[in-house]
Amino acid sequence: MTRKIGVIGSGHVGSTVAHYIVAAGFADELVMIDKNEAKVVSDAVDLRDAMPNLPFHTNITVNDYSALKDADVIISAMGNIKLQSSEASDRFAELPFTSEQVKSISEKIKESGFNGVIVDISNPCDVITSFYQKYTGLPKNQVIGTGTLLDSARMLREVSEELHVDPKSVHGYNLGEHGNSQFTAWSTVSVFDKPITEIAKETDLDLAALDDGARKGGFKVFSGKQYTNYGVATAAVRLANVVLNNSLTVLPVSNYQPDLDVYLSYPAVVGRKGIVKRVPLSLTDEEQAKLQNSADFIKANLKKYSE
Ligand code: 2OP
Repeated sequence: MTRKIGVIGSGHVGSTVAHYIVAAGFADELVMIDKNEAKVVSDAVDLRDAMPNLPFHTNITVNDYSALKDADVIISAMGNIKLQSSEASDRFAELPFTSEQVKSISEKIKESGFNGVIVDISNPCDVITSFYQKYTGLPKNQVIGTGTLLDSARMLREVSEELHVDPKSVHGYNLGEHGNSQFTAWSTVSVFDKPITEIAKETDLDLAALDDGARKGGFKVFSGKQYTNYGVATAAVRLANVVLNNSLTVLPVSNYQPDLDVYLSYPAVVGRKGIVKRVPLSLTDEEQAKLQNSADFIKANLKKYSE
């Protein structure tokens, strides 16, 4: 079966996504789209230049929405590359730009007849994911945001650095908005097989500082280079692979929550047609309140920008 991925936006994030896909041989067909034709054409040529030295081959098509018809996954990486440093600490600064773009892009995706899974990176992630669903009319399970898959990775990194263990030996989730109202659900976090809350009782581990480190992780990266790309691109490609492989992996990604009536990150089983089911957690009352707070924040902004 041919594996086909579309990447919309060839800026810092989209080009990193495309490079990872091509270098790792994750797709047979790659469709790259960007409003800046010269840039995306150059990126495609550059990626083709990589192929003689790769053990894989990927056919690349440029700026042809009709080629998305039979794509399995579309990754949306469009964003405002002219974001000012002062706006970096608020992903909503991108909304005036991305909320306009998502309408016309969705219209073209719809016209192409695409019926796969949309993976949205574009910020503010939960709101733009919700707009993709609304404007493409795709079933809610087929539209997913990378959400706190990235913030969870940042939390795993923070914990692993503090405890000097491999981040893959730390398990657990950041939940809610991919933004400032997110939180680490410490009741879900364990290191090897031990709950981190027990470790914190026995040591001087500062969970609040680690939570803060995860939430502000993107701004730390932004401060030195004015964009973030590797962390989020890796999260998006992992999610795309879970869809392509129908691997039914549990991931903390932005998906529609019927009980809260909003898109936010909460663990879900992901497979070929997107979200298969939500995985219920036994959150503490405090965590439940934080999740509700995050949902209220996203909803208030959705309402504001839908009017
Ligand atoms: C990130 O957190 C900016 O949302 C992007 O890296």
